[in-house]
Amino acid sequence: MTVRRTIEESTSDREKGRGLDRKRVYTSEFNSWALADTMPRSVEIFDTTLRDGEQTPGVALSVDEKIRIAEALNDLGVDVIEAGFPMISVGENESVKKIAALGLQSRVCALSRSSRKDVDVVLDCGVDYVHTFIATSDAHLKYKLKMTRDEVKAKAVDAIEYAKSHGLTVEFSCEDATRTGLDFLKEMHIAVQQAGVDKINLPDTVGVTSTPAMERLVDEIMSVTKVPLSVHCHDDFGLAVANSLAAVRRGARQVHVCVNGLGERAGNAALEEVVLGMMAFYNIQTNVDIRKIGYVSKTVSNLTGMPVPGNKAIVGSNAFAHESGIHVHGVLEDPSTYEAFGPELVGMRREIVVGKHTGAHSVKEKLGEYGVTLSEEQIGRVVQEVKRLAESGKRVDDAELVALAYHAAGQRAGEARKVRLKEFAVFTGLNITPTAVVALDIDGQYKRGSEIGIGPVDAAINAIRSVVSHKITLVEYRLSAITGGSDALCEVSVKLQHNGEKKAVSVGKSVGSDIVQTSVDAAVEAIDRLYSRITKDE
Ligand code: KIV
Ligand code: ZN
Repeated sequence: MTVRRTIEESTSDREKGRGLDRKRVYTSEFNSWALADTMPRSVEIFDTTLRDGEQTPGVALSVDEKIRIAEALNDLGVDVIEAGFPMISVGENESVKKIAALGLQSRVCALSRSSRKDVDVVLDCGVDYVHTFIATSDAHLKYKLKMTRDEVKAKAVDAIEYAKSHGLTVEFSCEDATRTGLDFLKEMHIAVQQAGVDKINLPDTVGVTSTPAMERLVDEIMSVTKVPLSVHCHDDFGLAVANSLAAVRRGARQVHVCVNGLGERAGNAALEEVVLGMMAFYNIQTNVDIRKIGYVSKTVSNLTGMPVPGNKAIVGSNAFAHESGIHVHGVLEDPSTYEAFGPELVGMRREIVVGKHTGAHSVKEKLGEYGVTLSEEQIGRVVQEVKRLAESGKRVDDAELVALAYHAAGQRAGEARKVRLKEFAVFTGLNITPTAVVALDIDGQYKRGSEIGIGPVDAAINAIRSVVSHKITLVEYRLSAITGGSDALCEVSVKLQHNGEKKAVSVGKSVGSDIVQTSVDAAVEAIDRLYSRITKDE
């Protein structure tokens, strides 16, 4: 049974993106069974993308990239940004210093082992919030630290007292808490509170706790923890988000997260999933502006070089994509049929994808987006052709669908072209601003223009826009290599939008061996398809 939730929120929260527009959230009413008195009304988001997230194998961010991510997180509204572990390297130290100096609204925190030397380095970075940790499980004591429980406790307490005496806000973690004996874990929590700690974090360092066990552990630990409790869950069994939500349900008031679920090994709890889960299931508030989630996810993916899997919840390219005819039909009638919530709530877009399971509704809707109208019989033929191509393993993208539609309408490729490329040149090199010159034949008129860009493709597309209309923007550019080697064939598809009164989109695609020339061909094809629509609009 799916129903629209009726919990009300203030309009101002919604306007700030901090509340959910419940009319567009279609969760199950059974979730009310899980509401508990122990749940806080609001939870703080401690983002560790720049620290644990950077520990993702293969990720190494430059100082500038870290600053850009910190600014994006600040804009998103996270409460705390763990900017790094300044003790580990010169670059890490520099980036923590620079992020601390940005004057962000989010609090900037740095990680530190439980040692005065590490705390001094943190102080030198100019941050006022330190996250100290020391391992407490028997395995870590025996094999890694080679210390007794009493020694570990004394070190944790000393570092906290030292940091507090220097005016820092201190959060403390028992590393590997979930494999630490319960009595010793409680003893540690009591000792660090006596030392003046401000917050205690409970890490499931190796992601080894089941969700009901996490609930019970939080209950146990809350009985001795008077300062706010935080959780830090790893995803080794795929339970990081579930365990974070479970901890919050039992009273945790802060969650450690990483954008896109980055982090050591299988990663940490994904920011986007924890925030949406808390809001949708428990009606818990955070300071995160959820409308910016899609953008922040893309920024982090681009800067870390870690692609977001298509099927990743909330931010994956398939998260709001529908292919099957039955689903598309349902979603077009009412999105609640096959969506958990509206993509616009989190800055994402719904996408209708054509493929083997496609029906006439999808094709009609998709072609409508590009201003192509066909008869029912022609649509039927396009559907059959899409299925045939998809079954032979070919992905049918928008440009191919539009080409199939023109074919079904009896128009041969290029036959009725109004826009043709006549001349094209691009100049680029070291210390030269890439500059392109193009000449087009537009409906029998010869027009020429030139423009600069950040690269030769950008310059070429800007030059085409300068000839046709500055109201045209590039909304998508896809480049893929068809064959290998430096003389590889490439395939470019370009999606353009005309931002006139009537917004119109168009796609073009081309294959060739020269990336710039192929991009220009694809752009001219897209412009040609847009031309008859925008001339009516100008
Ligand atoms: O996973 C972990 O235990 C950590 C600590 C430093 C909190 O990342
Ligand atoms: Zn961790």
